[in-house]
Amino acid sequence: MSISIIGAGAIGSAIARLLTNTGLEISIANSRGPESLKPLVAELGPRARAVSLEQAAAADLVFLAVNWSKIPAALAGLGPWEGRIVVDANNPIEAPLFKPFELGGEPSTQVVARMLPGARVVKAFNHLTPNLLANPGAEGGKRLLFVSGEQADAKRQVIELITQLGFHGIDLGNLQQGQLAQFPGGPLPALNLVKHG
Ligand SMILES: NC(=O)c1ccc[n+]([C@@H]2O[C@H](COP(=O)([O-])OP(=O)(O)OC[C@H]3O[C@@H](n4cnc5c(N)ncnc54)[C@H](OP(=O)(O)O)[C@@H]3O)[C@@H](O)[C@H]2O)c1
Repeated sequence: MSISIIGAGAIGSAIARLLTNTGLEISIANSRGPESLKPLVAELGPRARAVSLEQAAAADLVFLAVNWSKIPAALAGLGPWEGRIVVDANNPIEAPLFKPFELGGEPSTQVVARMLPGARVVKAFNHLTPNLLANPGAEGGKRLLFVSGEQADAKRQVIELITQLGFHGIDLGNLQQGQLAQFPGGPLPALNLVKHG
């Protein structure tokens, strides 16, 4: 399964480190092109490749980690998405104001999924800060990562990847139920939860 990351900032690069440290090969893209990713790719080592957005969008599993207001521009012209898994790591809030975007109560991943026709979209990797995400084996246990989405098979594949990375994945259910791990608003993101035993 080929894996890519669209977005190479705090969360995109944390995901890239996790994957390459686990021995997986990844490609990664940002808005400024592969040349601008040279320092990050040099740090990540031979398992990482800087690519164009079009190349990143062709992977079997695509992480999306882009500032909320930039997602439409990042996805414009990409696809077709049929069959691909897209992991939505985004939250509808951003610096510098950290004022939540008004979505009328709709789960943010549902909004993102509309921009990805045919993709199997899974919400995950959205509720931990980069420093916690960097450390799956925590305090003698496994850090919890919450997953939600409409397609059971896609969630199963993402949970397998989460397990491979050293976390303990928990399927919260569909995207509406995934609101429990929505940031801001849900009760789970603020907690640093670790499974022991
Ligand atoms: N930081 C956190 O603690 C945290 C935790 C969980 C989830 N998240 C979510 O993760 C997402 C990313 O946050 P972040 O903190 O990683 O942001 P960030 O550090 O500002 O990085 C954003 C990334 O998005 C890329 N980007 C922006 N516009 C783009 C476009 N049009 N096409 C392609 N790439 C584009 C940027 O590339 P360029 O630099 O080339 O423009 C950059 O690599 C957000 O939705 C945020 O809510 C953040």
